[in-house]
Amino acid sequence: MVKVSPGDGSIFASVAYIQKRKGILIVDETGLRFREDGGNKTIDIAFSKISDFQITGLLGHRISITSGGSRYVIKVPELDRWFRMIQLGVMVTRKLTKPDGVSGERQPERRIPPQAAAQQPAPVQAQNPLVEQIRRRKSMSALAPAATDKKAQKLQPIVEKPEYRGSWPSGQDYEQSFQSPAGYVHPSLGNVSEWKVIRNTRNPSWLVQASGNYGSVYRIDDGSGKTFAIKCFTRKSTQLNARYQIIHQYLQSQAGKKLPLVDFSYYPDGIRTRRDPSYYFPLVKMPWIEGQTLNRFISANISRPKTFETLAIKFAGAMSSLQAAGISHGDLSGDNIIVDSAGNILLVDYDGMFVPPLSQEKATENGHADFQHPARGRDNFSRYTDNFSILVVFLSLLVLARRPEMWEKYNGDDPDCLILRKKDFMDPSGSPVMNEISKIRAPKVRKASKLLLEALRNPPEWEGISADRVISI
Ligand SMILES: Nc1ncnc2c1ncn2[C@@H]1O[C@H](COP(=O)(O)OP(=O)(O)O)[C@@H](O)[C@H]1O
Ligand SMILES: [Mg+2]
Repeated sequence: MVKVSPGDGSIFASVAYIQKRKGILIVDETGLRFREDGGNKTIDIAFSKISDFQITGLLGHRISITSGGSRYVIKVPELDRWFRMIQLGVMVTRKLTKPDGVSGERQPERRIPPQAAAQQPAPVQAQNPLVEQIRRRKSMSALAPAATDKKAQKLQPIVEKPEYRGSWPSGQDYEQSFQSPAGYVHPSLGNVSEWKVIRNTRNPSWLVQASGNYGSVYRIDDGSGKTFAIKCFTRKSTQLNARYQIIHQYLQSQAGKKLPLVDFSYYPDGIRTRRDPSYYFPLVKMPWIEGQTLNRFISANISRPKTFETLAIKFAGAMSSLQAAGISHGDLSGDNIIVDSAGNILLVDYDGMFVPPLSQEKATENGHADFQHPARGRDNFSRYTDNFSILVVFLSLLVLARRPEMWEKYNGDDPDCLILRKKDFMDPSGSPVMNEISKIRAPKVRKASKLLLEALRNPPEWEGISADRVISI
């Protein structure tokens, strides 16, 4: 947002999108004016005509304004500040026209979370006439959040943490912090001074138990013998904070259901590092799962291949319960699927998860390519996002149950993928593994591989391969 020359009476301006058209948004004492790039179109929205306005989208990405029977959806940087200015403008206009403050009009609903309101910058600069007018009136309290708005309360507590401007910690940085957790882990996580960080038994010179593309996972004994896992993030993600809070809330609402997920707590301020002790980075705390990643489970049980058939069915059942709850994991892969010590399927790594309250958002990642439909993109973000990966895992397990020797031949000790890879999806007719699978006569394998080929001719979230459909193979 920039202050522009008052020559045309304008006060602040910014690049913005209205109904997805790009242009410049200007505010002055009377309202908003939007000039589309190329000068094609101008939209004037007078404060006096605005009957409703609110921040929409759970991540608070847009301002929706209803004026004179039209609805405008505005995307603009510094959205909170713009929202505040609109709010001031609308309030001032109403007070000016109805000095006693008794207005027959509906008061604009304020759906901005109270925490966000508390964190908002001082509304606007002193020279802004809107502020000056407001200051002269004692009616500022009318701007207090509509705390009784039930809908607002339901959507509320999502506040984006200000972005960290420096370079994000590496696995090494976190490793150092976990050498003395009391000095680095935020006290809100509990009796940190009692924590014992459990060494990696496979590689005892390290504390970190496992790391993937986005994080490092540690195992902690909290002093009472109970162990839990902590995931620290090694990559910056601007929406991590808001998304994790939304996912957490939604999963809590599904608490009665048996889902293949672990309960977790997300801490926006979780851990600091020696490089910058002034900033706490987020972390996820969750129960430690005793078990093996799917890849390790397959390697360990390759001489008992019948297990894979049972596992395939269990997996499809678990995924069906997830889809029924409206959820997709978003990044199913050999190391995000865990077979616990009781033989149950559990999923970890919820960074890319879809839950229904995120339905207006896009995916932040496309998942591991060796499990994804080649056409999957950020727009594929729904309860069916996992469809293709479910079929890839299911078919692989069915095949390995009958041809365990294909594990060594096609996995080649790759810790992430199973026996199929992106190149097989790109060119199934030229794929040696698909060719070998086509020679397996078992009807289940035939059906599943036929379905995979059909899926490749359909869009990524094709419902013809939903988990329920896969179970019935
Ligand atoms: N709660 C847990 N219990 C046991 N192991 C876990 C747990 N969470 C994650 N892991 C292990 O840590 C690995 C990395 O964690 P993950 O969340 O997948 O990080 P990334 O986003 O970097 O892939 C997982 O593949 C899994 O093996
Ligand atoms: Mg992972």
